Amino acid sequence: MLGFEVRPASRPMPDAERSSILKAPVFGQVFTDHMITLRWDDERGWHDGRLEAFRNVSLPPSASVFHYGQEIFEGMKAYRQPDRSIALFRPERNAARFNASARRLAMPELPVETFIQAIELLVRQDRRWVPSGEGTSLYLRPFMIATQPTLGFTLPSRSYLFCVIASPASPYFSAQAGPPALTVWLSEKYTRAAPGGTGAAKAGGNYAAAFLAQREAVEQGCDQVVWLDAVEHTWVEEMGGMNLCFVQRPVKDGPATLMTPALTGTLLPGVTRDSLLQLAARLGLTCEEGRISVDQWRKQCDLGLITEVFACGTAAVIAPVGHVRGAGGGWTIGDGRPGPVTMRLRDELLGIQYGRVPDELRWTRTVC
Ligand code: COI
Repeated sequence: MLGFEVRPASRPMPDAERSSILKAPVFGQVFTDHMITLRWDDERGWHDGRLEAFRNVSLPPSASVFHYGQEIFEGMKAYRQPDRSIALFRPERNAARFNASARRLAMPELPVETFIQAIELLVRQDRRWVPSGEGTSLYLRPFMIATQPTLGFTLPSRSYLFCVIASPASPYFSAQAGPPALTVWLSEKYTRAAPGGTGAAKAGGNYAAAFLAQREAVEQGCDQVVWLDAVEHTWVEEMGGMNLCFVQRPVKDGPATLMTPALTGTLLPGVTRDSLLQLAARLGLTCEEGRISVDQWRKQCDLGLITEVFACGTAAVIAPVGHVRGAGGGWTIGDGRPGPVTMRLRDELLGIQYGRVPDELRWTRTVC
């Protein structure tokens, strides 16, 4: 296994300052005292692993990432448990997706055990940064960039930097009591991913290309953009950085159905999405990975067949969707407020992550 040289920060943030930040952390604004760095080149492979003080990264302006955007990342969290220990949630899934993204972007894969070792080292070192307030966590952001100083576009970069940074976080969509219901914007002008593209990879470029539509959503008074497929502009795919789930009313006395767009290669295979499909089945819901058009979404809401919709992701956890808007008007889902199935699934998932309910599926991994 690869080793990491440990060089603790000489001037970590004073306790009082850190404690004050941890009372109400804002998503992605403040970073912990340390970071992980690990380098790769085609001669040495992975080498020079370090845990070191959080600092600026120095790169030549010719580094390939600045020109061709070869970058991938992950999002994961460390959760404070009732006994004050700290746990990760399904880190091996993030490691596997990171490698799937790396393959698509022609970047080197990182052994799963090295990925998890790096995450655990950082969490252990910065354990005092893991908040304990309701719904808070330490958000972890592993990423990899192409560092070869070249403008050549014949072959992928011959050198890379893998980093992990960490940031104490509150819920992504904050509210005083429980999650607010989001209003979402149907992006009919832009598309996120086409067949054969990078939609299934967690690549920075996907998010860069999404900002324009996300800004349009905000200008229309919405929280998030909903992407449709790139070929027919008909089928619902995902939201900006989250997957979407639809709750359909039970037929006769049967169970309700949880439907989410199938992984067609153009949407992100979310770890939260996968976890909810498994939890929903255990709670007795019928689970389906299928497809739904905008027209069907609207009609089924009008007929009361779709009763709830929610977004899910590591940062977002589960965020209920109350209203949909688009160029052709809008509609409300159910009564526009978070529904019971959404809240039940949310309680179950958070219960496992925060160690409040038994982890029968063995998804959590204690770090320290
Ligand atoms: C995450 O949920 O971890 C993400 O990376 C989404 C990002 C838009 C915050």
